[in-house]
Amino acid sequence: GAAAATRAGGLTFSPVGVNTLDTLVVPNGYDWSVLVAWGDPVEEGAPHFDPERQSPQAQAKQFGYNCDYVTVFAFPGDPDRALLWVNHEYTNEELMFPGWEGAASATVRQIRTSMAAHGGSVVEIERVGRTGEWRRAKGRRWNRRITAMTPMAFTGPAAGSPLLRTSEDRRGLHPVGMINNCAGGHTPWETVLTGEENFNGYFTVPGLDQDGELVPDYSSFPPDLAEGYARYGVGAPTGTEFAREWARADRRFDMTQEPNEPHRFGWVVQIDPWDPTSTPRKLTALGRCKHEGATTAITRDGRVAVYMGDDERFEYTYKFISKGRFRAGGGAAARRHNMALLDEGDLYVARYDGDSPDLGDAGDLPEDGLYDGRGRWVPLVVDGESRVPGMSVDEVLVLTRTAADRVGATRMDRPEDMERNPVNGKVYVNLTNNTQRGTEGRPGPDEANPRPVNRHGHTIEITERDPGALGFRWQIFLLAGDPADPQTYFAGADKSRVSPISCPDNLTFDPAGNLWLATDGNALGANDGMFAAPVSGPDRGVLKQFLTVPVGAECCGPLITADGRTALCAVQHPGEGDGSTYASPMSTWPYGGLPRPSVVSVWRTAPGDPRIGA
Ligand code: FEO
Ligand code: CA
Ligand code: CA
Repeated sequence: GAAAATRAGGLTFSPVGVNTLDTLVVPNGYDWSVLVAWGDPVEEGAPHFDPERQSPQAQAKQFGYNCDYVTVFAFPGDPDRALLWVNHEYTNEELMFPGWEGAASATVRQIRTSMAAHGGSVVEIERVGRTGEWRRAKGRRWNRRITAMTPMAFTGPAAGSPLLRTSEDRRGLHPVGMINNCAGGHTPWETVLTGEENFNGYFTVPGLDQDGELVPDYSSFPPDLAEGYARYGVGAPTGTEFAREWARADRRFDMTQEPNEPHRFGWVVQIDPWDPTSTPRKLTALGRCKHEGATTAITRDGRVAVYMGDDERFEYTYKFISKGRFRAGGGAAARRHNMALLDEGDLYVARYDGDSPDLGDAGDLPEDGLYDGRGRWVPLVVDGESRVPGMSVDEVLVLTRTAADRVGATRMDRPEDMERNPVNGKVYVNLTNNTQRGTEGRPGPDEANPRPVNRHGHTIEITERDPGALGFRWQIFLLAGDPADPQTYFAGADKSRVSPISCPDNLTFDPAGNLWLATDGNALGANDGMFAAPVSGPDRGVLKQFLTVPVGAECCGPLITADGRTALCAVQHPGEGDGSTYASPMSTWPYGGLPRPSVVSVWRTAPGDPRIGA
């Protein structure tokens, strides 16, 4: 009826305005609190957080830095208890350590502390009273830190590949640690998938002076290795901007010592939050790239599809489809079966073909009024066989970008989150930006990436009959930016009704199927934040800003809980910016003084419907 229609389309909150405040801002009628912050105790025996006395041992038991992907595992039969999973993507040493003068002069203790601040956390949480607010529980039985030092296992077809063998792991089966875990996914069998993204800068490589600039010098490596390094941009010479210098604390990160170690990062990792002793698994069947996240959907015939973006300019979107079928109903045997589903299956990369020969100039849409067309999933590995000429299965899985280059996939504007909407069945992918599109020597615009020098990014909506389908239709849902800019598009909505948005990154859906977006790197000069838009009905595309995060922060991991009563978001790198330091940070959020990356819960305080946005 009318009420339901209003609910589905009607996000009733008053949008938060554009601002540069050093706090979290939520709509009237909502409140927020910090659920867990960098340094908070996680594992049993964690010491009290003392920024002046950090150590790798303390950090390995405390909540890590730069929280990104967030998900919640409800306790069966108890809606007031849950396990929170959070990724810790990277570290801002200039904000973490007093007197930091750069990676080249870091102490081994600082580097090891940073290594312990990476990875992820499992934290038991509980509801506060009967509200949508959550807090950390006292019990720590389930709590766990995963770090860059946690023992892991390779599973899937490339496990044991010669490309994965090192002097410390001669069989290529036991990688150590995960790094730069960005977004992720929550499987139907209640495990987390977490994507290793920008793993490349952690490795030290010799440098070569090229016109006054230090660039990686791969000339001492065999040509096939060097080609792979170049394709992924692996290794940073000492003294360059992104060099992290971990080799000074751990020889694995010295490429001249362990030339295969870079192949052991860039994977999707599966972690079972319900077993604190379980070994995280790096899933080689899903391929290796700068994985943003990995989200699942069940096909009509019961297989599991996984959607994945590779976040770098001109990279690709991927889909994996399992060979085996999901077994519902829980139970230990079903769970074991399901946990192995992502070890065998087919891997595809997407091609997006437009249907308008003349693209228009984005303010002036193509003749058919849409940036749209057909697409297909181009096979890389099918039935255990490589479909890429000249590459074996393990080569396709370890050097997936090279494989995708060879089959004519579409180079996208930095693919971030990609996820199927459980209500309308469409798949949404955020392309966060690409300021090199159409610049000299770089690919020009195409209908799926139509803006030259794409500063603000866009969102594509994919219509697949089924997650198992190999063909689809697609259209651009959002061309982000200031709605006053004619080169923006909000799914055809009246632009006087929408909030400005820039650089969509993570995405999720509420129980009504509304699309929620989080942003990173707002190029409109204001703080990042979280937004929502209906995807159907009269308000389709009416995007409204739900919250803003503090100065220098990106907004990550938006999640609306299954009961609709809580929004969770990760405030990543508050205070990050030029000249911002421990002694003089640009942000002092959330407690005054040292900025602390934190996960917050947001809930509704106004009388009436307690659900977020309703
Ligand atoms: Fe770590 Fe693509 O954002
Ligand atoms: Ca078109
Ligand atoms: Ca991201």
